[in-house]
Amino acid sequence: VTWPTTKLTDLLGIEHPIIQAPMAGASTPALAAAVSNAGGLGSLGCAMQTADVFRSEIGTTRKATNRPIHVNFFAHEAPSPDAAKETRASELLAPYYEELGLGDVPPAVATHFPFDATMLEAVLAVRPQIVSFHFGLPDEELIRAIKDTGIILLCSATSVREAVDLEKRGVDAVIAQGWEAGGHRGTYLSSFEGARAGTMSLVPQVVDAVKLPVIAAGGIADGRGIAAAFALGASGVQMGTAFLTCEEAGIPDIHKEILLKSRDDDTRVTKAFSGRPARGIVNRYIEDMAAHEDELPDFPLVNTMTGPLRKASAARGKGDFVALWSGQSVGLNRALPAGELFEKLVEEAQSVFQHGIK
Ligand SMILES: Cc1cc2nc3c(=O)[nH]c(=O)nc-3n(C[C@H](O)[C@H](O)[C@H](O)COP(=O)(O)O)c2cc1C
Repeated sequence: VTWPTTKLTDLLGIEHPIIQAPMAGASTPALAAAVSNAGGLGSLGCAMQTADVFRSEIGTTRKATNRPIHVNFFAHEAPSPDAAKETRASELLAPYYEELGLGDVPPAVATHFPFDATMLEAVLAVRPQIVSFHFGLPDEELIRAIKDTGIILLCSATSVREAVDLEKRGVDAVIAQGWEAGGHRGTYLSSFEGARAGTMSLVPQVVDAVKLPVIAAGGIADGRGIAAAFALGASGVQMGTAFLTCEEAGIPDIHKEILLKSRDDDTRVTKAFSGRPARGIVNRYIEDMAAHEDELPDFPLVNTMTGPLRKASAARGKGDFVALWSGQSVGLNRALPAGELFEKLVEEAQSVFQHGIK
């Protein structure tokens, strides 16, 4: 097996330049270990975990693989509480709580915190080989402490401007996240409205603007997409949605069922679940809230207010109020164990490289 460039595989110490995206609330130790054991980079989305849960997940993952692992955190700004917005959000959500018999709408509480000194201590103690951030980078001292231990640092960029900023601040490789991507937009410098370039446009412009290896993300779901990313100048790919229908993915069954029935025109970017733009399958909640997204509190405060609704909806096997995160290439998803899916992805990409385009 040969890849057009080994820049990323050399940097990360892996065999194949395919990263299973860290997905807070969806990636699991079993998923990460299966991908790392298959020669890719398995990842854990740790942004919503306490330091104790983080340590225990790393322990479980390390028991299942001795290959490199990748952990991910959020570096968003802490939210400013806004009583008027909280009251308005309660009003908007109350009818759904009543419909599902869930009692009162819970108050807005920050459930996950930006990466801080406590989490840094846990990271330095367990020393994952690779650490990445979403929503920009934390303060310089925290970054320096991570880099000083030899940990490889990655971060998502949704514009050339962000990629150049990340290079200046010392990341080892940039993840170029196109508009197709499932889950939250990593945008932190550009406006959300401005940073909507698709993967096809974003990747080659980022490749031209930085010297670092570029990892393409967003809408890559099979070997054709992987090969295309290399043609655009990427040194590797990060794929999220494609791994959500693996048995190892930690999402509700109803989410998997809906993904397997969905296609290109079923997703939309919404702020209604968390307070920050994220792509998911359109459902009743997204449609109902479309006109009210700007009335809600800041990220991640909306999460606590929507949490019980999402849980209850999933428990009843209905997708109406579940955050059905998904990228635009969802129509290509396959329900396979992660190791098998991974082998197929490598084979399919190799076939394009060796036999050309059929
Ligand atoms: C369910 C889900 C959760 C995600 N959570 C995170 C996360 O916690 N941290 C992160 O950096 N990216 C997260 N992402 C975004 C991925 O890193 C990546 O940009 C995206 O999955 C690529 O697009 P694709 O889904 O079309 O493959 C998430 C994506 C999905 C689908």
